[in-house]
Amino acid sequence: MDHFNYAQGILHAEDVPIPEIAAAVGTPFYVYSTATLLRHYRLFDEALDGIDHLVCYAMKAAGNQAILKTLAAAGAGMDVVSAGEYARARAAGVPGDKIVFSGVGKTEAEMRTALEGGIRQFNVESEPEMEALNRVALSLGVSAPITIRVNPDVDAKTHAKIATGKSENKFGIPISRARDVYAQAARLDGIDVVGIDVHIGSQLTELEPFELAYAKVAELTEVLRADGHDIRRLDLGGGLGIPYTRANTAPPLPVEYGAMIKRTLGHLGCEIEIEPGRLIAGNAGLLVASVIYLKSGEDRDFLILDAAMNDLIRPAMYDAHHDIVPVEEPAAGIEQRAFDVVGPVCETGDTFARQRMLPPVLPGALVAFRSAGAYGAVMASEYNARPLIPEVLVKDDQFAVIRPRPTIDEMINRDSLPEWL
Ligand code: LLP
Repeated sequence: MDHFNYAQGILHAEDVPIPEIAAAVGTPFYVYSTATLLRHYRLFDEALDGIDHLVCYAMKAAGNQAILKTLAAAGAGMDVVSAGEYARARAAGVPGDKIVFSGVGKTEAEMRTALEGGIRQFNVESEPEMEALNRVALSLGVSAPITIRVNPDVDAKTHAKIATGKSENKFGIPISRARDVYAQAARLDGIDVVGIDVHIGSQLTELEPFELAYAKVAELTEVLRADGHDIRRLDLGGGLGIPYTRANTAPPLPVEYGAMIKRTLGHLGCEIEIEPGRLIAGNAGLLVASVIYLKSGEDRDFLILDAAMNDLIRPAMYDAHHDIVPVEEPAAGIEQRAFDVVGPVCETGDTFARQRMLPPVLPGALVAFRSAGAYGAVMASEYNARPLIPEVLVKDDQFAVIRPRPTIDEMINRDSLPEWL
């Protein structure tokens, strides 16, 4: 569910008409709904009611500080994967003890930043990383709280580029080696083992792969406890998928996911962390663009927009589907036509949709990509020297630009020319 609906024939973000924002900031732009962000965060929080838990929003999905502050004020922790994300989270007011640090390639500088600034735990992904963290912690005279991310070798049944829990993926340590690595961790004075971490992939549309992975984590918890480790926290990662179409078959709801977690792991008495990203931000954001031209090809028609693959890479990168709707509500029963929806970037991959049925739209019309809040703005680039597009946050009947569009001068003036040129 989201808060982007038609009212009086015009698409609104909560109570704000989209054309009003377009007139103020120009197109293309991203717009997020506060109510949808909060609703989705709360669905997870409530799904884990009754067990000690923390929902750590995976801010890689949408990391604007205004979004982080909105979620943090509701009680969310954060899952970060770089010094940049850590700094953003802190700048948005998230306390260090609500931040977990994930990622396979944390540098010693990043470890130091987090240990000095405060951190809930590092999710360690390899023995060399654990040794590096031990060194950094000892040099600071502290011990670093960690979980170890295990790779359960489970098929997440999602797009290959976003599956992370198979043995051939770079993530985590093989679960078969876990006892040895935990034993090694126990010998390191700079390391304080608090639990186990697992994350098997993104945009999962079934509970079964999660359940298989979590059952393995439950078993490992018992084994490690018998070995003498104080396993008191389980970080279960993110990954629950969202409906990208308005089809009848929606992925499982957070409440069903929460019930499965309780069923599989509840008896262990551990504190539970989850790291949802997409489900919180995905349907809380639209990408709004204008139609530049309608162009007739040999055997197809093209709808050329002012947004491109550099603004929203998901269709080009994962063949992802995003619903595209006109901002002006089409009359009921109006005839639709097939278009290839494309951007201005000079490559064929700059195609948002092929042969998509759309109601008539004219040049200048506004269109909205639904479900663009997660992995949209954060994955944008300036390819073709197209400035990053603005982000806007709506709350009830107000909206604010939370990241302005840079001018062309601001963009090109970041280059510096050597004196000898
Ligand atoms: N935790 C870890 C350790 C992760 O690697 C990820 C996502 C998450 C949590 C959040 O997963 P989510 O709840 O959002 O599924 N760019 C891709 C998605 C990449 C996901 C990377 N890791 C896309 O646009 O589909």
